[in-house]
Amino acid sequence: MSWTNEQRYRPITDAKDEELAQLEAKVAKSTWRQKYHIQPNYGLLNDPNGFCYYHGKYHLFYQWFPFGAVHGMKHWYHLTSTDLIEWKDEGVALIPEYRHESHGIFSGTTLVKEDQLYLFYTGNHRNSAWERRSSQCLAVLSSDGTIEKMPEPIINEPPKKYTHNFRDPKVFKKGDHYYMLVGAQREALEGCLLLYMSDDLKKWEFKQELKTNHESFGFMWECPDYFSLQGKDVLLLSPQGLKPQGNDFQNIYHSGVFIGEFNEEKGVFDTQDFQELDKGFDFYAPQTTQAPDGRQILIGWMGLPDTTYPSDGDSWANCLTIPRELSIKNGKIQQKPIRELKQKRTSENHQHLEIANDRQRLTTLFSEPGEYQITINLETATRAGIAFRVGEEEETICLLDKAAEYFCLDRTHSGQPVATDYGTVRKIAYNQSVIHLTVFLDQSSLEIFVNDGEAVFSSRIFPEKDSRFIEIFAENGVAQIEIKQWLYE
Ligand code: FRU
Repeated sequence: MSWTNEQRYRPITDAKDEELAQLEAKVAKSTWRQKYHIQPNYGLLNDPNGFCYYHGKYHLFYQWFPFGAVHGMKHWYHLTSTDLIEWKDEGVALIPEYRHESHGIFSGTTLVKEDQLYLFYTGNHRNSAWERRSSQCLAVLSSDGTIEKMPEPIINEPPKKYTHNFRDPKVFKKGDHYYMLVGAQREALEGCLLLYMSDDLKKWEFKQELKTNHESFGFMWECPDYFSLQGKDVLLLSPQGLKPQGNDFQNIYHSGVFIGEFNEEKGVFDTQDFQELDKGFDFYAPQTTQAPDGRQILIGWMGLPDTTYPSDGDSWANCLTIPRELSIKNGKIQQKPIRELKQKRTSENHQHLEIANDRQRLTTLFSEPGEYQITINLETATRAGIAFRVGEEEETICLLDKAAEYFCLDRTHSGQPVATDYGTVRKIAYNQSVIHLTVFLDQSSLEIFVNDGEAVFSSRIFPEKDSRFIEIFAENGVAQIEIKQWLYE
């Protein structure tokens, strides 16, 4: 379907009940609906927004266009949870109503002040010449659940020498001051962050462009997040326009972290290398929050901008990742699935198989939504692996290749194609004989955590409904493969 601007730029308040009921009915028939991931009831989800802990609950919002799988007029949709596992649907939170947000309420973050939650977001407006006009805006959620939007932006426009690609405010407090980092673009079309300061969260003063050791690094920096972890400062970012480098930056856009020291007084973030956060096919715009017990928890969008997905025809697109706990080990970011996920485990199956120069279909284990802990041990084999969602002509392969020294996820034959121009295999360098994988499989995705969080591959897959087998294989020798499966309810 091609969308006219009138169809694309409508707020949810404009919808008739029958229209929404029809959308819901269409979505309900989709074979790719997830079982345990956050997904929109209908329409398109993208970035997580405003992830926080406030008033005894986690609050999570996401970018949402209600009327179909297209990046149209964005709203913020709202969920809450006490355990990061069961999410309560709180309905739509921010609906465009003012001129400065006429083409969408874009991404942002939240900050708790006294008894209220401050929601910072970008107002996206297109003028009559269809030029983008961006402002930073504020809404306040009170403890009784009501949300009040400020009628005027708190920052009207970008400073001189920057374009209107100016969005996704991250607000935080340090000492007596509040700071805001905004994703931005220089007139020379290079990405950067702009630093603002405030004493009351309402009046903001532009300080300067944030100085980093990455002066020319892509054409736009989106969705900044900032936090401290194990005595280091971490800047999380989604820069656009990086070129592929070895096994890194293979998708259309990328997200990652700078680990370093942030001096907000001087506006300097002294950084080491940029570490890509996810090695899979579908991951972007992650955000974090601190749990009450101090853990830094990350949730990302399991999808990419400027990419169409096979579920689009069913009037919905995209989901969020499972939450992950972050840590730093030897200067590298580690990501582990949060331990609360164990609550979802129901029946357990355990198999330990030896396989030699063969491919074998399992007869008692099937690719059902749940968690899989897999150890592949190459004894004499040079390659071995496991394939999920195997059907007549489909399979999604996790492969360890010792001779060529890599581990990969191969979705060449996963089902309906996605973004194949960017390749169908994702790799990390790996030269050990043993690898441990924790795989979270859902109806149309898998997230693979390698060796307790050294690397993560998040990917959507769109197989046929009946492609449900699991196969294991070993080449040029013997391999031991151990699989523990827990089904999720
Ligand atoms: C990232 C992004 C943000 C923007 C939002 C709009 O995916 O482009 O920069 O605020 O999506 O939905």
